Amino acid sequence: MTIRRPLVSGNWKMHHDHIEALHTVRDLGLRLKAEDVARVDVSVHPPFTDLRTVQTLVEQEHIPVAIGAQHCSDEDAGPRTGEVSPRFLARLGTAYVIVGHSERRTLFGMDDAKVAATLRAVLRHEMTPIVCIGETEEQRSRGLTEAVLEEQVMAALSGLPPEVLGALVIAYEPIWAIGTGQAATAVDAEDACVFIRSLVTKVGGDGAAERTRIQYGGSVTGENATDLMAEPNVDGLLVGGASLEAPAFTDIIRATGACYRS
Ligand code: PGA
Repeated sequence: MTIRRPLVSGNWKMHHDHIEALHTVRDLGLRLKAEDVARVDVSVHPPFTDLRTVQTLVEQEHIPVAIGAQHCSDEDAGPRTGEVSPRFLARLGTAYVIVGHSERRTLFGMDDAKVAATLRAVLRHEMTPIVCIGETEEQRSRGLTEAVLEEQVMAALSGLPPEVLGALVIAYEPIWAIGTGQAATAVDAEDACVFIRSLVTKVGGDGAAERTRIQYGGSVTGENATDLMAEPNVDGLLVGGASLEAPAFTDIIRATGACYRS
């Protein structure tokens, strides 16, 4: 059970247009009771075209979720056709931005340098980055998991001051577990999170690493959330498929809150 206030984030990926988003978030708002979110932070990460709609609804109806984005540019403005500025996201009240999701890395050529630059752009606008890292099935079977995680963490975080490191979120998302229905075991998730925390200590010291929230992501469901969250170094969950419908996402939020005693 973590000593850090957990964060449950719903990454909708390229699902739900703005009307569907409206229904989903309204449904979530009807289900979530004050006690469900008393011990857990929640963010939803809809597609860009939904953000304004979701933000307006969340504000008007006081729905206890933070607004998140799935990606942004590392630049604030300029000739970047198709990109979205972190400044625009901040202006919308976006609290969290996912940075370097494995789908951005593998499908859109986002390399470690771009992840590092984007992470800094998010920080520049006082939003919280959720930095995603994780190994492929092949890397795992070759025993390279720690080497891959170390490379990704060091590339993204080196040079950041301890107070910044302590405030950010890292998501451990083994690529073989994303969208496959095959989540990591709680023990494997814990081991990876412990290792990642030791890397944060290397960069910024124990004080920072004790505060950094490390999520697990990859085929999280209402059924496995409790086991995952029972581990002391798993500080939250990054949820794809199971965040698309309010009932399933609510189950995960409740399971997570039950695993944290503030
Ligand atoms: P999944 O996706 O929960 O559908 O496996 C997680 C993610 O990619 O963030």
